[in-house]
Amino acid sequence: MKALVYHGPGNKAWEDVPDATVQDPTDVVVRVETTTICGTDLHILQGDVAAVTDGRILGHEAVGTITAVGDAVSGFGVGDRVLVPAITKCGRCVYCQRGMPSHCQTVGGIGWIFGHLIDGTQAELVRVPYADTSLYAIPEGVSDEQAIFLADSLPTGYEVGVLAGGVRPGDTVAVVGAGAVGLSAILTTGLWGASKVIAVDTNKFRLTKAIEFGATDAVEVGPGTVADVIALTDGLGVDVSIAAVGYPATLLTAASLVRPGGTIANIGVHGTPVELPMQDMWIQNVKVTMGLVDTVSIPTLLKMVASGRIPDEKMGTHSFTFGQIDEAYDVFKNAAANEALKVVITPG
Ligand SMILES: NC(=O)c1ccc[n+]([C@@H]2O[C@H](COP(=O)([O-])OP(=O)(O)OC[C@H]3O[C@@H](n4cnc5c(N)ncnc54)[C@H](O)[C@@H]3O)[C@@H](O)[C@H]2O)c1
Ligand SMILES: [Zn+2]
Ligand SMILES: [Zn+2]
Repeated sequence: MKALVYHGPGNKAWEDVPDATVQDPTDVVVRVETTTICGTDLHILQGDVAAVTDGRILGHEAVGTITAVGDAVSGFGVGDRVLVPAITKCGRCVYCQRGMPSHCQTVGGIGWIFGHLIDGTQAELVRVPYADTSLYAIPEGVSDEQAIFLADSLPTGYEVGVLAGGVRPGDTVAVVGAGAVGLSAILTTGLWGASKVIAVDTNKFRLTKAIEFGATDAVEVGPGTVADVIALTDGLGVDVSIAAVGYPATLLTAASLVRPGGTIANIGVHGTPVELPMQDMWIQNVKVTMGLVDTVSIPTLLKMVASGRIPDEKMGTHSFTFGQIDEAYDVFKNAAANEALKVVITPG
C-alpha cells in the first residue's frame, strides 16, 4: 500500500510500505476513503513532537470501510463504513471509565496514538486497535465530507471550548482564533443558546467564515480588540471566552475579555509558558479550563450533522487526491493565504 511516511523534521514521502494488517484480535483494518490534515501534523513535521520518529505514517483522522477484522471484534464487520476518530480507547481503564479516553492507559497512556505512537490514517489502509470501543458507524445519508471533521476538529471545539466553557442559554461568548477549531466552537455554541458569539481573528477571510458559521459579531484584531469586544457586551465582558490559537498573547487576550464569574476555556496547544495576570484575575471569580479532546461527543455531534443542524462539511475548502498529498500539505501550511480551512483528501 501507499502511505505518507515521516522521515524526520521537514521530510515526508508518499511511498510504498507493507500493507496494514490485523495484529491483535481487537484490531480491524480500514481502507481509508477520506482523510485530512490537522495543525498537529504540521507541528510533527517541524520536529515539535519527539515521540514521532522516522518511519511513522502520519494522520489521525479518517473515514473508510473495514477490510479485515480480528477474532475478538464483535461490533463491526468487513464492509462497514466507519469514522476513525483521533482518540483510541480501550473502554475499560480508569480514564475511559471516567469518560476521559484522552488519557486511555491501555493504548499508550494517551488516547491520541494514530500518526503519533502507531501508524496513522494518511494511507491507503490503517490498522485500528480496540476497534469495538473506538470506531463509530456512519449512518447512511451522512457523506464522507460531513463525517471526516467529526474525527477531531468538531469535537475539539465543542468539548474543550463550548462544554468546558459551560456555555448556557443567553450567554455571550467570545472565540479568539477562527481556524477549524474556533469555527467548530462557533458552529456548536448555538446548540447551547448563546445570545451573542463574537469571533476574534487577525484574518478577514476567517472572520467572514465565522459569520457564515453562526457568529453574531466579528472583531478584527487591532489595538482596540479588548475594548471592541467589551463594548459588544454592554461593558461587562463575555460569559465564556474560548481561546483557540495557542500563543501566550492570544490566551491573554481571551483572559481580558471575560466578565466576573465567567470562564476562559483554552483549546490552544501551548509550547511555551504563559504569565497570567493573577493579581487582577483572582478577584474576578473566573475559571480557566484546558485539555486534550476526548472525542466522546462524537455520537451527539454525529446526530446533529446527520440532521443538518451542524453543516460541518463547510469546513472542507479544498480537495486533493492521495497522489496530490504534498500539494494538500502546502495549501494547508499556508491556509490563511490560500483561503483554506480544512483540506479533504481522497484516493482519487
Ligand atoms: N486541545 C486539543 O485537544 C486540541 C485539538 C486540536 C487542535 N488544538 C489546537 O487548537 C488551536 C487552533 O487549531 P486550528 O486547527 O483551528 O488552527 P488554525 O491555525 O487553523 O487557526 C488559528 C486561527 O487563529 C488566528 N490567529 C492567529 N493569530 C491570532 C491573534 N493574534 N489573534 C487572534 N487570532 C489569531 C488565525 O488567523 C487562525 O484563523 C491550535 O493551537 C491547535 O493546536 C487543540
Ligand atoms: Zn488533530
Ligand atoms: Zn482506556
